[in-house]
Order: sequence, then C-alpha cells, then structure tokens
Amino acid sequence: MEFTSIKGFKDILPDEIAYWQQLEITARNIFRAFGFQEIRTPILEKTELFNRGIGEETDIVSKEMYSLKDSKGKSLTLRPEATASVVRAYIQNRLYLKSPVQKLFTIGPMFRHERPQKGRLRQFHQINAELFGDSGPKSDAEMITLAMGLFESMRLNDITLHINSLGCDQCREKFRDELKNYLGLRLDFLCRDCRRRAHTNPLRVFDCKIETCNQAISDAPSILQFLCQECERHFESLQEYLNRIGISFVLDHRLVRGLDYYTKTAFEIQTGELGAQNAIAGGGRYDGLVKLLGGPDHPAIGFAVGMERVVALLQQKRFEADHDRPDLFIAALGKKAEEISFDWAIKCRRDGLWIEMDYGPKGLKAQMKRAGKLNAKKVLIVGENELFSGKAVLRNMDTKVQEEIDLNNIYDILNRLDGGEQNC
Ligand code: HAM
Repeated sequence: MEFTSIKGFKDILPDEIAYWQQLEITARNIFRAFGFQEIRTPILEKTELFNRGIGEETDIVSKEMYSLKDSKGKSLTLRPEATASVVRAYIQNRLYLKSPVQKLFTIGPMFRHERPQKGRLRQFHQINAELFGDSGPKSDAEMITLAMGLFESMRLNDITLHINSLGCDQCREKFRDELKNYLGLRLDFLCRDCRRRAHTNPLRVFDCKIETCNQAISDAPSILQFLCQECERHFESLQEYLNRIGISFVLDHRLVRGLDYYTKTAFEIQTGELGAQNAIAGGGRYDGLVKLLGGPDHPAIGFAVGMERVVALLQQKRFEADHDRPDLFIAALGKKAEEISFDWAIKCRRDGLWIEMDYGPKGLKAQMKRAGKLNAKKVLIVGENELFSGKAVLRNMDTKVQEEIDLNNIYDILNRLDGGEQNC
C-alpha cells in the first residue's frame, strides 16, 4: 500500500524551500525594523475560541473547521487562523502588562476545510502580525506600510491595496438594517447561502463569489455612507497617512472580509497574477475582540499574508534564491588535488560557506556538469599543474568570467565569496 498525503495538504519540497526561506527572512527583517516580536501559539485550541472569536456565521466556523473530540469529549480545533490564538495568548499571559503597545508576529500552518484549488489549500501557511493597545489611524497606516513593505522588498510589483471601513458596532448596526431591507427585495436572485446570510449576517453577501449574486447586489448601499463621525474621521485620517507615506490604494466599499471581528479599517492586498485566489494578504482593526474573548478592552489591528500565494508569485518571477545555491564547487583533478580541496572544503564549510565537490575521482567535464546542475555560484578548478604553479582558475558561473587566483591566498579569496561575511 502506498501512502499519499491528505487532499489539500501539500509537501513543501526542497526545490521550492528557498522561496519560503527568502519570504521568512525578509518578513523577519521587516518585523524587526517595525519592532515586532515573535510569538508561537499551539496549533490546536478549544473550538469555542474560534466560534466566539471568528463568528458562528462565518464560512470558516460554519463549514471549514477541522474539529475533533479528545478522550474526555472536549471539542478541539486545528487553528483556521492565528488572530484568535494570539489574542488568547495575549490575555492568558497578560502580555499587556509588559508594555501598553504589544507588537507580535507569528508564522505557521493554518487549517481550513475548503474546496482545494490553485492557491487554496486545506493546510496553508500564514505570516501574521498583530498590534495591540493603540486605537488610532497611525497604527493602521503602520501595519499597512509593513505589509506593503514586505511585498516591495520581494520586488512584487503587480499588487493593489484595497481598503474599507466597517465602522463600529453602532454604524454597522444601521448599515446592516439597511442592507437587510435591500437584500429582502432581491432574495429571488440570490444563491441559497446568500438568502440565509441576508437574514443572519447580511454583510457576508459581499463575500459571495457567485456571479449572479454579485450582479443582484451591484447597486447595494455602501457602508461608507453609514459611518459615524468618529469612524469617518479615523478612515479619512488613515487615507491621509497613506497618501503622505506614498502608498496608493483603492477605496473598496464592498470589502467586508470573511471574519466577524473587524471594526473600522479593513484591508486586502491583491495581485493580478494569480487568477481567482488573488488575495495575498488581508487584515484590519478588531477593537472589540480582546474584550469579547475575556480580556481588557484593548484595541488591536493585524493582518495575515498567505505564504503559498506569495511563494507562487516568487516562483513565477523566478526570484533569485541566492541562498539556495552552493557558494563554490571545487573541481579537483587527481588524487593530490582531491585531498587538498577536501581540506579547503571542510574548513570553509565549518565557517559557513556552502562548498560542493565530488567524492570520487571524476573528469573535468563531469564535474563541470555537476556544478551546473547544482547551480553553484562559482567553480574553482584545481589539478596537479595548478598545485605546482600555485595558480588556479575561479569561474563565475553566472557571468562566465574567469579569474586566475593565487592558491597561497586561497582562504582570503574564498572568504570574499559570500559577501565577505564568512571567515575561512
Ligand atoms: P484571511 O483573509 O482569512 O485573514 O487570510 C489571510 C490570507 O491567508 C489570505 O489573504 C490568503 O492569502 C491566505 N489564505 C487564506 N485561506 C487560504 C487557503 N485556504 N489556502 C491558501 N491561502 C489562504 C485571516 O486569516 C486573518 N486572521 C488576518 C488577520 C490578522 N486579521 C487581523 N489579524
């Protein structure tokens, strides 16, 4: 019997791992610059946390959670997103006592029982950022800048920021009533799910991907017309900050996001290069969630990046994953050269350079072929003659430029291979 992975669960294989690492390294650098600290929460949580946190009427809670019962009959769930877990950890560990503003990030797998398709998996990975303790639009602008900065650093250009305001409880209540009336007149044109949503959670109708539903609500009222003075001011101020920073955006009054905890600012970053699953990040403010989950009345804002989708973009762009290439391949010809090269390789590897060479005696052609296959950055060719003369050829495999180097200074020269940071 051959075992295969579960549908919608995917192996991340060595030939794509460089993209993942590059994304994580870039994210970690940006998080550092913005003063974020890492937190790691368990993958399994009590089901009630997500029911309450995300909202019973959302697709995630009503149909997509991987829930199981433990031996005592308690319902547990594989986290479908990280925000509820991070909020739980923030409350349980009283992180707010350490500093009035807490900035946390986490990276890891999430689980949603959705219909798998390109860009949509049942186990997928997110980079999450959450900022607790500030209610002003400046932190909204900061979070959006952080998210956009991540994509800019990875040279992903075809991306668009969509922003909306979902208002506070008061303005949303008024909008919900108005929307219910509007949808009530169009029930015949809506899908079965949306007919139910029209009563239970009308904003979710904007999430529906079915074209007929989209057409039926094409002239639906906009939440932006229902914002109270405070929410309106907050949203305007965010736009001013974004303009000042130089981040362009699309005002998208239909952006409601698929989770119920959002208040005021909601945003999504979309790409034109991935087809239907075009959201590479999404987030927003969730000022009521900490209190709802039993904590103090602390405001918060956050976002999550879908790592599989960003990796797909990086792969399309053939993003230069320099980290995933040997720094040097040593092509050694003859017993003596093999032995000496082995010493060089071991010393340099212990100092952090990635050095490759063959284990047994091979001809130059075979070794060059292997260096090419490994995508080595440089190749050093050493045989009896080179050892005798003390000079050898170092070939840059990208530019094809060859230089003659002095083998007496071999460690100094190799030292410079990886930007000079290694210490061979
Ligand atoms: P979300 O919009 O559900 O938000 O997910 C964020 C991102 O995760 C999406 O934009 C997408 O790139 C990726 N994603 C979601 N589902 C899948 C899937 N099935 N397969 C592949 N990628 C997927 C949240 O999860 C919120 N917790 C974000 C947040 C943090 N809001 C405040 N703080």
